Amino acid sequence: MRQWLIGLCVLMGLGNVAQASDALQLGAETYHERCTICHGASGYGDGLLPMYMGNYPNTALVRARSATTIDEIRHVVEVGGSEGGSVHSPPWRDELSAEEIDAVTQLVALLRDDRDAAFALLDETRPPSVANPVEGRVLFKTYCARCHGEQGHGDGRMAKVYQDPPPFPLVYSVMPAAYLTNIISGGGGAVSRSEIMPAFSEQLTETQIQSVILHLYSMRHLRTRQY
Ligand code: HEC
Ligand code: HEC
Repeated sequence: MRQWLIGLCVLMGLGNVAQASDALQLGAETYHERCTICHGASGYGDGLLPMYMGNYPNTALVRARSATTIDEIRHVVEVGGSEGGSVHSPPWRDELSAEEIDAVTQLVALLRDDRDAAFALLDETRPPSVANPVEGRVLFKTYCARCHGEQGHGDGRMAKVYQDPPPFPLVYSVMPAAYLTNIISGGGGAVSRSEIMPAFSEQLTETQIQSVILHLYSMRHLRTRQY
């Protein structure tokens, strides 16, 4: 009987540990899905939104600012920053379940108590990268601008060399995603066009190609220059 009890306690103990890490796991997943865009992939405050917009409030989570205790953290997550008064810091109480709010609260607390453990957990649970236009812009500058021009007008420095056909002025492109994917990954030859347009499947991952395509779409709003 006594042994059985001890066995039960051990099992329950183990159960608790497993439960705690389940909650943290859910917290990390929730974080990746909902918080990264502002707070950054690891909570350093380097999310895309603050990087993109000037004058954004500091979003670093690795060090406590006003929300210090676990209850204060949960409160900010529920109602938003500055008592719901900050337009930059959304409330989550209507979008996340109580379990998710609790879990992501624990994750934020872990970021502050044991940063290495939190980083390891975030790394482990990070979903495969998704395409984003900011990365696309950087890639475009690196791989495409020399022919197509920084703004996509077809006037890169190598456009002097390649004139038959010239690099397409991408601001005027109307091609859909599937076509863009094919010509960028397989080169002009893959779509019966000039092989001067190189293939990038070796240099760029599929996600990076999708990022470049997002940037190509945003360039289509820049059809301002007269020819
Ligand atoms: C749209 C951007 C945005 C998103 C998305 C966002 N936050 Fe925030 N968060 C902020 C900003 C901005 C602040 C700082 C608020 C202020 O200074 O008024 C903040 C503050 C906080 C704070 C208080 C930090 C402190 O020490 O005072 C916590 C905790 C927090 N956020 C957690 C989260 C969690 C968890 C998520 C995801 C479920 C999340 N936030 C999603 C923008 C965001
Ligand atoms: C060495 C020069 C060169 C480089 C570098 C280059 N291109 Fe091109 N690209 C061309 C040329 C030339 C064409 C026109 C091919 C034709 O019309 O047959 C073209 C055509 C295209 C088209 C077709 C547009 C349309 O609507 O028909 C797209 C899209 C494109 N390039 C995207 C890119 C992207 C994205 C990169 C960088 C990842 C890139 N190109 C790098 C030369 C280049």
